[in-house]
Amino acid sequence: MNVLVAGGTGFVGRYLCAELHDRGHDVTALARSPDASVVPSGVTTVEGDVTDRDSLRTPLEGLDAVVNLVALSPLWEPEGGNEMHDRVHRQGTENLVDATEEAGIGRFVQMSGLITGDEDLTSYHRAKARAEEIVRASDLEYVIYRPSIVFGDGDEIVGYTTKLKQMFAPVGPLYPLPGGGERTFFQLIHVGDLAPMLADGVEGDEHANETYELGGPKVYSLREVTELVFESKGRSITIVPLPMSLSKVGMSAMGAVPGFRLGPDQYRGLKADNRVSDNDVGVFGVAEDEMTTFEEYLGVK
Ligand SMILES: NC(=O)c1ccc[n+]([C@@H]2O[C@H](COP(=O)([O-])OP(=O)(O)OC[C@H]3O[C@@H](n4cnc5c(N)ncnc54)[C@H](OP(=O)(O)O)[C@@H]3O)[C@@H](O)[C@H]2O)c1
Repeated sequence: MNVLVAGGTGFVGRYLCAELHDRGHDVTALARSPDASVVPSGVTTVEGDVTDRDSLRTPLEGLDAVVNLVALSPLWEPEGGNEMHDRVHRQGTENLVDATEEAGIGRFVQMSGLITGDEDLTSYHRAKARAEEIVRASDLEYVIYRPSIVFGDGDEIVGYTTKLKQMFAPVGPLYPLPGGGERTFFQLIHVGDLAPMLADGVEGDEHANETYELGGPKVYSLREVTELVFESKGRSITIVPLPMSLSKVGMSAMGAVPGFRLGPDQYRGLKADNRVSDNDVGVFGVAEDEMTTFEEYLGVK
């Protein structure tokens, strides 16, 4: 198959491009500034911006499937503010879906997020939910994936905890976390487990028009994730619970500090439940106990 992976130079994209390439497909990664050195050899890159409909026409010629992995991280406030989530995730998906239909390509794989709870929680959640609606309303054969937080080399979750630590460097080994990190939960999934499931959706008719929730084998609190990351670096920290109400004020205020792009949406995001209600990994022939845990990845315990 000829497959275009929009956002193919990103964290998940690199693994998916490698998986598809290894399965014998012709793969092209699309991004605004595609760096050919980050994708596996044999994968080609092309420039395109999902917010600019015209830039998608040429890259979409002669394809069999399109995967949408374009992302703005919900962990930090994007340049241009949280409204950018609507532009990139909703409008970007609409542009890509339109261009895919116009090019006569049959299959579309959409990467969403775990948005089954309160979809109005943040601009990210709202835009991801609207993007799903656009995909479902199209004439395309689609597969929608809703993974929990993804970890692996090049991920954001380990980088996030480290950056928060830098932010709180003046308080030494103390590590303030909203609600002590015990009110935010993730069912972390390893990118090496996820990529083959995405590739199955690109290839297989049996997944047509399905929506899958995917999580790893264990649920972790933000506190556990943070402690494990520092344990893996041989460093000990003392987590100090910050009252949620104080965190709201604090994170909103930090939105004004250059370099620390946190705002009210990022505070609200801490209330999002990143646990799957029904783990669909079995659909892909994967058992939870065969999947990589966060501890195994970090080499602790
Ligand atoms: N990582 C997670 O924990 C996680 C969890 C749940 C869901 N997801 C979803 O999984 C997908 C992939 O996430 P990721 O972590 O791999 O993201 P990522 O590492 O931030 O990669 C984002 C990719 O999108 C490209 N991109 C950004 N804006 C673009 C635009 N306007 N037009 C075209 N390309 C654009 C980036 O390249 P350029 O900057 O060069 O354009 C890059 O290739 C996203 O849909 C994300 O919401 C991720």
